[in-house]
Amino acid sequence: MPEINKYVLHNWEGLLYNGNLSEYLKARGQIVNHALETLLPPEQGPHKNLAAAMRYSVFAGGKRLRPVLVLASAEVAFGSADNDSVKAALNTACAFECIHTYSLIHDDLPALDDDDLRRGKPTCHKEYGEATAILAGDALLTLAFSLIAETKDVSPDKLLCIVAELSKKSGIGGMIGGQLVDIESEGCEITFPVLEHIHIHKTGALIVAAIRSGAIIGGASAETLAVLTTYGEALGLAFQITDDILDLICTDEELGKPSGSDLKFQKATYPALLGLSESKKVAADVTQKAIAALDVFGVEAAPLRDLATFVIERRN
Ligand code: IPE
Ligand code: IPE
Ligand code: MG
Ligand code: MG
Ligand code: MG
Repeated sequence: MPEINKYVLHNWEGLLYNGNLSEYLKARGQIVNHALETLLPPEQGPHKNLAAAMRYSVFAGGKRLRPVLVLASAEVAFGSADNDSVKAALNTACAFECIHTYSLIHDDLPALDDDDLRRGKPTCHKEYGEATAILAGDALLTLAFSLIAETKDVSPDKLLCIVAELSKKSGIGGMIGGQLVDIESEGCEITFPVLEHIHIHKTGALIVAAIRSGAIIGGASAETLAVLTTYGEALGLAFQITDDILDLICTDEELGKPSGSDLKFQKATYPALLGLSESKKVAADVTQKAIAALDVFGVEAAPLRDLATFVIERRN
């Protein structure tokens, strides 16, 4: 496994939270990007086109929310942000970004949402062709599990728990199951419980797994894990409701993906079922629930509190 710690060791002073969330996101985003740069396969050898497609989608942009949640949750469980908490959680943080990027590549394929723009660039299948895009997604999915398995300085027990979290919540019982119901619901009249099921599974599950995995690395107690799970469930739902809202109110340029894409396929969304202003209200209420769950923590949870507000106030 390549050396990924030099950057962290050099920059850890910038990791303490001073209430400026954009600085916090930037500092952790840079650490994650540097680690991903090292951990993704190089563009050489017989698979260089595949490695290029993987790198193209991972480095096209992205908020890095899921890896940042892994790191922020590890901070809560460790009790503070320092070099060691970030180092221990970094491979897992990168694994979540690999799974997330794979889900985006596959979500954009003609057989699913058929979108041409992602992270401000042509989608992976537009740039590399469908076959390579499918395989780039597959390779990112499997890479995620080797990154976890090859983590140093975290006990095998914890790594096994994280593998269980990630595989369950990204598979049929989580993200993929949610994606299927999303596709099957296109153009159908659906009930509110079905809509909630889609959002909790296609998007919420991976967010919950990221938060729980960070907490596991930090050695969280069962009580801490339960609180963070409640936070993550609310955050994940608020995230996807906001994604639905942004699809209606933002431009392609702001989003980096095609606005109005949900209307094109008559997707099951909160605004379609509840209207725009009610959807905003639900997102705000769910976010308050997420923040309230963190009341048992002190300043160590300040980044998680502010991330919840960011999730509903963002413009992309
Ligand atoms: C988009 O996720 C896909 C959904 C689950 C709604 P993000 O909005 O986090 O996408 P990036 O990573 O910033 O591109
Ligand atoms: C996708 O939801 C969730 C995933 C598992 C990728 P969307 O289809 O709404 O995501 P965007 O809007 O294309 O990013
Ligand atoms: Mg979709
Ligand atoms: Mg989509
Ligand atoms: Mg969307």
